[in-house]
Amino acid sequence: MLNTHNQVTTNTNFFGNASPHELIEKYGSPLYVYNENILRDRCRELKQLITYPNFSVNYSVKANGNLSLLKIAREEELNVDAMSPGEIYVEEMAGFKSDQILFISNNISAEEMQYALDRNITVSVDSLSQLETLGKINNGGKVCVRFNPGVGAGHHEKVVTGGKKTKFGIEPTKIEEVKEILEKYNLHLTGINQHIGSLFMDGDKYIEGINSLLSIAKNFKDLDFIDLGGGFGIPYKKLDHQPRLDLIELGKKLDKVLFNFAKEYGKQLQFKIEPGRYIVGECGLLLGTVHSTKVNYDIKYIGTDLGFNVLKRPIMYDSYHDIEIYRTRTKPSTKSEFVTVVGNICESGDIIAKERMLPEIFEGDLLGVLDAGAYGYCMASNYNNRLRPAEVLISATGDSKLIRKRDSFESLVNNFII
Ligand code: LLP
Repeated sequence: MLNTHNQVTTNTNFFGNASPHELIEKYGSPLYVYNENILRDRCRELKQLITYPNFSVNYSVKANGNLSLLKIAREEELNVDAMSPGEIYVEEMAGFKSDQILFISNNISAEEMQYALDRNITVSVDSLSQLETLGKINNGGKVCVRFNPGVGAGHHEKVVTGGKKTKFGIEPTKIEEVKEILEKYNLHLTGINQHIGSLFMDGDKYIEGINSLLSIAKNFKDLDFIDLGGGFGIPYKKLDHQPRLDLIELGKKLDKVLFNFAKEYGKQLQFKIEPGRYIVGECGLLLGTVHSTKVNYDIKYIGTDLGFNVLKRPIMYDSYHDIEIYRTRTKPSTKSEFVTVVGNICESGDIIAKERMLPEIFEGDLLGVLDAGAYGYCMASNYNNRLRPAEVLISATGDSKLIRKRDSFESLVNNFII
């Protein structure tokens, strides 16, 4: 590769034995590419987060539900959460057993609850009315309840899931009502859970949320587990040397809180965490092709095939993703300039990076949008009847393997009734 701006992927040997151009030639553009080694590293880091012995890392599959990645997470001895019967379906396909799956539900139907109960999967409910619904169909069974202790955190208001202005969980003032419903249906409350939001880079809010959850836990005498939620952040500004979340520091603080609680509670109950982004975010990137460049009223646009149908995070949350440039021709970038990188969708909000200082980009260059493994493919759509891209895994040995086909014109029309 020549004349490129590619420090991050070079340092991690992201593309293994292939080059971005070879991958695009073989699998088409745009393309999601995942690196197995990075995925395994992230799984292991979180498995080692604390020394407390009865600990489980439940990968939050909503971040990326690709079957091949799920199988790797299972090999790394992670468990999973599920948000829907569809996620349960794929998790079972990946080999997860019922006691390795926790269904963290939100506003589901009795039929959806039944789907999990038929498989002996524990359901977490997050309102009194859903607890009633579950009691009616599972009298005498097990249940988990999601609380909202009033603490929230996250990179954007749309992903803060704890606190006084969100739809999630049951507020602590309703503990007595929870107990009444449990008693009415003879339900065994095996666990409680929370999730304060997505993406914290400093663990203090997380610990604050946990302290509130643990004080709620003291109201219930026979819990088997407490699920502390996810939200572990990743550095999206690697080219600016943004520091990583300090897992060692967070682990030490967590250990202290959890050991103390278990002692007071009189039982070494299980603690679970529920990370999504941290597990898969950095092992994935999105490759795309520059099809045009132009200047319109003093703004330089780089026109690509990376529309928000492929990666929704920038338009949805103003999210920032680092961008690398890959080039095979010996044409050097002689300057850096502010550019706005856009896609091919018919909306002016279709911007992947706004006024970004980048080395000069030419038609035919490939771009890599970094840290796109979490909430990337799973939020992609067929808007404008665009085909969702293929997904490729760079295996531990460096070889590339197709792990999901690109959509086709046939798949676009499959569900039409003619
Ligand atoms: N547990 C529950 C109940 C959740 O709702 C979520 C994420 C997680 C765990 C995992 O959170 P994580 O560790 O990935 O932060 N689409 C947004 C993120 C939405 C997160 C939704 N819930 C984004 O692209 O930033």
